[in-house]
This record gives sequence, structure tokens and C-alpha cells, in this order.
Amino acid sequence: MDTSLKSTTFSGRSGISRTGLEARLLARPEGLPAPGDFEITEVAVPHPAAGQALVRNLFMSLDPGMLMLIAGESGLPMPRYELGEVMYGDAIGEVVASGDPSLVEGDLVMHRLGWREYAVAQAGLFRRVDRDAYPTPSTYLGFGLVAYVGLMDAAELRPGDTVFVSSAAGATGGMAGQIARLKGAARVIGSAGSRDKAAYLTGRLGFDAAFDYHDGPIVDRLREAAPEGIDVYFDNVGGEQLRAAIEVMNPHGRIAVCGALNRQSKAGPDGGPGDLLSVLGKRLTIRGFTMGDHLERAPEFGAQFRTWLREGAIVYDETVIDGLANAPQALLDLVNGAYTGKTVVRLGS
Ligand SMILES: NC(=O)c1ccc[n+]([C@@H]2O[C@H](COP(=O)([O-])OP(=O)(O)OC[C@H]3O[C@@H](n4cnc5c(N)ncnc54)[C@H](OP(=O)(O)O)[C@@H]3O)[C@@H](O)[C@H]2O)c1
Repeated sequence: MDTSLKSTTFSGRSGISRTGLEARLLARPEGLPAPGDFEITEVAVPHPAAGQALVRNLFMSLDPGMLMLIAGESGLPMPRYELGEVMYGDAIGEVVASGDPSLVEGDLVMHRLGWREYAVAQAGLFRRVDRDAYPTPSTYLGFGLVAYVGLMDAAELRPGDTVFVSSAAGATGGMAGQIARLKGAARVIGSAGSRDKAAYLTGRLGFDAAFDYHDGPIVDRLREAAPEGIDVYFDNVGGEQLRAAIEVMNPHGRIAVCGALNRQSKAGPDGGPGDLLSVLGKRLTIRGFTMGDHLERAPEFGAQFRTWLREGAIVYDETVIDGLANAPQALLDLVNGAYTGKTVVRLGS
């Protein structure tokens, strides 16, 4: 991979001598980035000042939305990545030194200072979490809460609904399909980018039907899978899948717009629905949402998710990429369909 590596060694006043890698965006590409648009640099890690904590990151999340922060698109609910500055994203790590009484060495914390091996910041930016909640800390980075609020709040899921989920073998989609079933959906249908992934949905994840969206007209595949129509569409994609879902929706159907993979993966126009007459005729609801607007649901979801995991009622799969230096390429591979489940980067162990 074309990344430049500079090395600096630091000896802090406390005698700590520590360096760590961090990633910066060097160029704002037209379309999708290339690994050479990133720089991975080894830098000195300062000792935390009063009120700060130093965290050694264990895992960071990879999210297709990062491609829009790289592109610098307007209208996003998060700030874009600035050229030359360390990128950010969800991460989980361990406090190794603290200058604030609210955190002590060994605390497991979640925060937004990913794309670096060590994070030094005001202690208030780190949220302590329970070390024993999950078998591996990376589970905290999952998108179950996204799926949950999309279904419960944006789509107002009702028992007996037929639910269609796109990008269903991915982080959010895999959770959305399973949670829909656990919350009373009568039939759950998923789409994904290969026949193997479709088999994974009906096999391991327990979807009732699944199809490869490359396999002929999507609207035909969806009608075959949902002969009685769909009531809820959990949309990770936009584009042709959204058009097809609108056609196959039952009257008063509800669409939760979670993502825009069709656009993110090509970094171009979405090609979504133009004619909204069916939305009017069928009195459909299309509602965009972001998880950040529903954080009050986190304790309720966390308790429910842990119970489902303990009882074996839900499957949580993840793909782990090793090392920050591999993260830029992995982000591209993610939207090219290389992985299933939630994709995380291991930054330390
Ligand atoms: N609203 C929120 O709060 C929120 C929070 C988190 C994530 N999101 C968004 O939700 C979406 C899903 O995120 P994720 O992390 O769960 O990603 P993901 O589904 O785990 O991974 C990306 C997947 O994109 C699929 N893909 C690429 N181009 C596609 C296309 N044109 N049509 C269908 N699938 C395509 C690939 O699989 P295939 O092999 O199936 O093509 C790949 O597996 C993203 O748009 C993300 O930005 C929103």
C-alpha cells in the first residue's frame, strides 16, 4: 500500500516513551479514494494533561459513510474530514493514563477518535462501558442500535409486517433483518450482492427469502420474494432497490432510509426514484433517520441485545481487519462487497 511512514520517538516528562500510528486524508479525490490519498504516520504520543486521558485504541469501526466525509459532501450530519488532519470515527479502547478522576487506568471506553492507535483528549470525550458485557470489546462498535431505531422509530414496525432489508449481509442490514423478526415481523426478505450472501441470509441469519440484486430486475426478484407485498423497507442503498421497493410496497407502507450505499460505492449520483406518484397513491411514508438522534434508546437496546445474544436468538458476525495501515484499502473493499457482518479494524490487543 502506498502510505508514507514517518517515525518520531517521544520521551514525556513522566518518562513514558510511546509512539503510535495515525491516519490523515491527503487529498480529496473525485469519486472513490485510492489508498495513496491517505497518509499513515507514526507520531509521538503525549502524556495526558490535567483533565485529559490517554486511551490505547483496541478496535475502530469502518463505515461506508466515511467515504462521504472523505468526499466532503455537504448536507451530512457529521463534519467532513479535513485535509492533513487526523480522521475520526467510532472506536473502543483502554485507558492507559488519566489526568482526570472520572477515568482510571484499565477502563474500557468508547469514543469518536478512531483512525489512530492512541487517543489523547478531554476525559469527557470518552464514555466508560462495561468490560464484561460482550465476549469481545469490538461488539460495542456494532450497528444493532442503528437497525433498532430504524425499525422501531423510523419505520414504526408492527407485528405481522413483511419487511425488506437491502445490503442485508452487512453490519446494519444483518441486524435489521434479525431484529425485525424478533420484534414480530411475519416475513423478512433480504438482498445482497452475491448468491453466497443470499444463502448466508436464509441460512445463518434466518431470513425467509433472499436474492442477489445483480440477478435480473430487482423489482421482479422482490415480487417473487414478497408475493403479498412489503410493509416496511429498511433502505441501506437507495437507487434501483428503493425504486423497486416503492413499487412492491403495500398501501401505507413505511420506508426507513438508513444509508446510501448505491451512491457511496460509486461516489456518483444515486439514480433513485424520480416519479413519486406511487408514494402518493399508496400513502407511503419515507423517513430518513440517523442513530445519533435516538441515543436515548441505547440502554433499552443494549439490554435487549445482550439477552438475545445470551439466549442465542441473534447472530452477530464481524469481519476483523488487522492494523491501521490496512484500513484505507479495507474501507474500499467494504463497499465493494468483500465482507459480511460488521467490519472493524484491530488497532491493538
Ligand atoms: N442512519 C444512520 O445512523 C447510519 C448509521 C450507520 C450506517 N449508516 C449507513 O448505512 C449503510 C450501511 O452501512 P453498513 O456499515 O451496514 O455497511 P455494510 O452493509 O456492512 O457494508 C457495505 C456493503 O455495501 C454493499 N454495497 C455496495 N454497493 C452496493 C449497492 N449499490 N447496492 C447494495 N449494496 C451495496 C456491499 O455488499 P454487497 O455484496 O451486498 O453489494 C457491502 O457489503 C451505509 O450507507 C452507511 O453509511 C447509517
